[in-house]
Amino acid sequence: MFQVSREFAPPFSLISPYFTAGSIFYMIAMLLLPMLGVDMTTYDITLVAWAHLFLLGFVMMIIFGAMAQLVPVVLEVGHFSVDFYYLIWPLLAVGTVLMGAGFAVFPSILPYGGIMVLVSMLIFLADTALTLRKVERVSLTVKTVAVTNAFLLLGILVGFAMALTIGAGAGIDIQKWLTAHIVLVLGGFVTLTIVGMSMVLLPMFGLSHGFDETPVKRAFKMMSIGVAVYFVGALFNSESLRFLSLLAVFAGTALYLWQIWLIYRTRARKESDIWFRSMAVGYASLAFALILAPIALIGHLESLAIAAVWFLVMGFFIFLINGHLFKIIPFLVWFERYSPLVGKEKVPMLADMVPKKSGEFQFWFTAVGMAVGGAGLLFGSDELFKGGAAFMAVGSIYMFISVKWMMNFGKSQMQEKK
Ligand code: HEM
Repeated sequence: MFQVSREFAPPFSLISPYFTAGSIFYMIAMLLLPMLGVDMTTYDITLVAWAHLFLLGFVMMIIFGAMAQLVPVVLEVGHFSVDFYYLIWPLLAVGTVLMGAGFAVFPSILPYGGIMVLVSMLIFLADTALTLRKVERVSLTVKTVAVTNAFLLLGILVGFAMALTIGAGAGIDIQKWLTAHIVLVLGGFVTLTIVGMSMVLLPMFGLSHGFDETPVKRAFKMMSIGVAVYFVGALFNSESLRFLSLLAVFAGTALYLWQIWLIYRTRARKESDIWFRSMAVGYASLAFALILAPIALIGHLESLAIAAVWFLVMGFFIFLINGHLFKIIPFLVWFERYSPLVGKEKVPMLADMVPKKSGEFQFWFTAVGMAVGGAGLLFGSDELFKGGAAFMAVGSIYMFISVKWMMNFGKSQMQEKK
């Protein structure tokens, strides 16, 4: 689907803080996870604080780092200004901490955190929009990036308006806009970005080719129309529009899963490494969330809806992101430290640059924790939920150790040589 070139790729020193900061936020969020419980509702402010710490500090941070790398690689033009990326991560990190504290304890600082996050995302959006303008061939990737960025812009503007209401008394009806915010940022940006990026990364790492791409094209259309119609439904307070739009999103997700199956069937690399197993858990969770979500929607079952979101976020998002870090970081480190030495001395293989033990531990603790925590939500058992959360917390420590290990691979050797 995409041609991949490294000609315009930014330096590793620019991208590495995103992965380091992302894995630190991930560990902090997972260590705090056992504080939550099964009786939480979507309006519980502790849950809102935790959700932003995790989604902004980990999910968005890693996506921005990966986009810094991938946008020029797949669009085959350089960033409008790659230096913007030196600003995005510190603003996002500090803004996330202020927002988390604002939600949890000091509502008056919420708008300050909100504005920092908003500015960091506007910089990201401005760079991406100006980079897209340089592209001559408007491919599906270009459309994908344009559509997801428009959803992010709308989503964070709605979020900021709600933050002004909580922190400074602006008159926004939070009940009306909350679900629109969630659908725009989680569906319109995070999920659709993962759909777009996975079409580059899965065939590349699994060595798949020659598969039909019609399902993903249709999936993308259905999901983006669904998200846009949901926003219109929120604007006009139309329950039926919102219902129909979610059905379109679910149908699009089913088509996307079908596409993943086609990619899986044509893969040439058969080994079951940590990346492959992470993809298996991630897509199985997405499929399970897709079974729960329509039942929750039709039956108006809020606790089932929360369980569906758990499997989407804690199963699909986490395993897709962390699984890919085990491929992307070694590749970038290798390119930075070893590619100049090729032909001159012996260089390590990519597989040698993945930590075996801590990688395995993070995988198993996180997978078991995610399944047990999800079962806790489904059966309304706080003990199961907290047990699962504790497992995920241990997994996150191993994830942090693994990221550090991969980032530092060969660093001291290189310094000695200098
Ligand atoms: C400028 C950036 C953002 C601001 C100012 C913001 C603000 C808010 C506010 C005020 C709420 C409602 C709190 C309540 O119910 O009283 C909310 C909810 C939520 N936001 Fe954001 N948000 C931002 C970005 C994001 C992003 C990028 C994501 C996802 C990637 C996200 C995910 C969520 C979720 C999942 C909820 C619902 C949490 C729950 O009900 O437990 N937000 N946000």
